[in-house]
Amino acid sequence: MNEPELSELSELLDLEDVERVAAGRLDEMALGYYAGGSGEERTLRNNRAAWAELDVWYRTLVDVSSCSTTTSVLGLDLPAPVLVAPTALHRLAHPDGELATARACSGAGIPIVVSSLASTLLEDICAVTDAPVLMQLYIGQRPEVSEALVARAEAAGCAGIQLTVDTPVWGERHREHRTGFHLPEGVDVVNLRRHAPEPAGAADGAADGAADGASDGASGGIGEILGWAVSPSVTWDDLARLCGSTSLPVLTKGVCRPDDARRAIEAGAAGVVVSNHGGRQLDGAPATAVSLGPVASAVRSADPGAIILVDGGIRAGVDVLRALALGAHAVQIGRPVLWGLAAGGQDGVRRVLDLLIADVRRCMTLAGCPTVGDVTAELLAPD
Ligand code: FNR
Ligand code: LAC
Repeated sequence: MNEPELSELSELLDLEDVERVAAGRLDEMALGYYAGGSGEERTLRNNRAAWAELDVWYRTLVDVSSCSTTTSVLGLDLPAPVLVAPTALHRLAHPDGELATARACSGAGIPIVVSSLASTLLEDICAVTDAPVLMQLYIGQRPEVSEALVARAEAAGCAGIQLTVDTPVWGERHREHRTGFHLPEGVDVVNLRRHAPEPAGAADGAADGAADGASDGASGGIGEILGWAVSPSVTWDDLARLCGSTSLPVLTKGVCRPDDARRAIEAGAAGVVVSNHGGRQLDGAPATAVSLGPVASAVRSADPGAIILVDGGIRAGVDVLRALALGAHAVQIGRPVLWGLAAGGQDGVRRVLDLLIADVRRCMTLAGCPTVGDVTAELLAPD
């Protein structure tokens, strides 16, 4: 993989430019896995389209000579209301994988949410970054693996946990079948394999074999290879148990319904991530630009101090403004980070973060919002 010169990265002017370069560099399997959604990819497409539907009714004649994108989420001071969403297997994009991503986050001061299916050990990721690290968790078919991960997240100094709740089984992603998704030599879900006891008598291969995927109805793709990493029997009791068992704040990731969001807060969650997994789980789920507003008002009435994050199709500063105006405290970006990684490793991810933060500032300025607190609901619905 040839790294482009920095001058080449600086010629990438928006996140779509980065995506184009990445698409030319990734092999077919990695590109299909990263880019794809489930089913007909309706939700994947709608995630982008629904943000674009929202007009921003900018304010005029406001002094925006100094505009600050800084904010605070979960007690963390952030340079902008942006986090890196948890995405699996960064080493499919670049040999340095999650280490490159975490170093870029460190430079930019943007938190990284580490996927439990990362291809680098959590402790190694934490060691190379000064940025806040959150841990994403699945409660899978081996509860001891999830428990070990929570303990490791606490020991590593993580700032919180995102429990993903939209994945009782893996979505059906045709691109994974067409491109023959597999874990290449040397790339693995190391955090699930290491520091966790194997079930008695089960060889590693037997425990994650095709039978697990076949039994949950998935056929091929990640569903076959990692069927055991998620579980269809996870319920509200598991969320309540998790919240009661860790000192870290827990956010439930993958909520689209106001009643579910309220129930999560009642179960002890510190907040929610409005997400449909980037259109990779239930195809037909609402775009997050559609579900965010109702969920945000339910969360606010359940607990005005609870955190509301959102991800899915956020590609520009104006999308961040739209999300804040709908009630989010911050957004997460998934695929753009993978495109940055493929386009130029650490520098490529940094380019993505810098482009987005600069665009947030520009859009806030143009919309007459000198602070994040000025990005309110009226921007989308003027009197
Ligand atoms: C994901 N996502 C995800 N979510 C999660 O909770 N755990 C995970 O391991 C992963 N892995 C993953 C891999 C890849 C390749 C993608 C594209 C996505 C979902 C992710 O956190 C986020 O919800 C979406 O990616 C947000 O949408 P955008 O920004 O990619 O449009
Ligand atoms: C995915 C996982 C790993 O969406 O969450 O592929």
